[in-house]
Amino acid sequence: MSFDDYAKTWDTDKRINRAKIIADKISNSIEISKDYSAMEFGCGTGLVSFNLYKKFKKITLIDSSKGMIDILNSKISQYKVNNMITNYLDISLENSLDMKFNVIYNSMVLHHIHNTEAIVKKFYELLCKDGYLCIVDLDEEDGSFHKKYPDFDGHNGFNQEKLKSILINVGFKDIESNTFFHDEKIIEDKKINYSLFLMKARK
Ligand SMILES: C[S@@+](CC[C@H](N)C(=O)[O-])C[C@H]1O[C@@H](n2cnc3c(N)ncnc32)[C@H](O)[C@@H]1O
Repeated sequence: MSFDDYAKTWDTDKRINRAKIIADKISNSIEISKDYSAMEFGCGTGLVSFNLYKKFKKITLIDSSKGMIDILNSKISQYKVNNMITNYLDISLENSLDMKFNVIYNSMVLHHIHNTEAIVKKFYELLCKDGYLCIVDLDEEDGSFHKKYPDFDGHNGFNQEKLKSILINVGFKDIESNTFFHDEKIIEDKKINYSLFLMKARK
């Protein structure tokens, strides 16, 4: 799936509204201090972070799609936001980030990453002591969600208990998760239901 192809049409009303709900869920799940630095992994066009940037000192937004980062950069200039820093990077392949964050969050990205444990370890390394990780992703489903993307080769959502055990293995503590969002999507004229969970943990 090449996200470059979707970047220009990514910001639909449906995604904008969902991102607001996701951002509210993240900010209500953790205690954010105004001097915290955050990182959004797989930020896309920044839909989630545009609802959160006023709560943080700085947000570093990382994405491996140049198309997504270009759209995000133009929105940052348009809205004159000065604490959102973009980084065109695939941290599952390299780690050129020489910094630590108080909070790392991601939304609808983890199911695209083949090696879940490796990326969770990377998050652990990049967090400050006691830092928060917030993962928002799809609950386990039957593959319908990505049916119209024949080249999708990621995970069909996650079983929360299995994901939790990966976080425990990596060393995370205080892990909590719950499903907070239910929606439907029309795929090939068929209505499919899906849900999202938030899993939060501390280093
Ligand atoms: C489904 S989109 C979600 C975008 C955004 N989080 C949102 O909720 O609107 C997944 C995003 O993850 C990015 N992505 C996928 N694999 C990545 C990787 N290894 N490193 C960084 N970004 C990645 C894609 O380029 C894409 O922008």
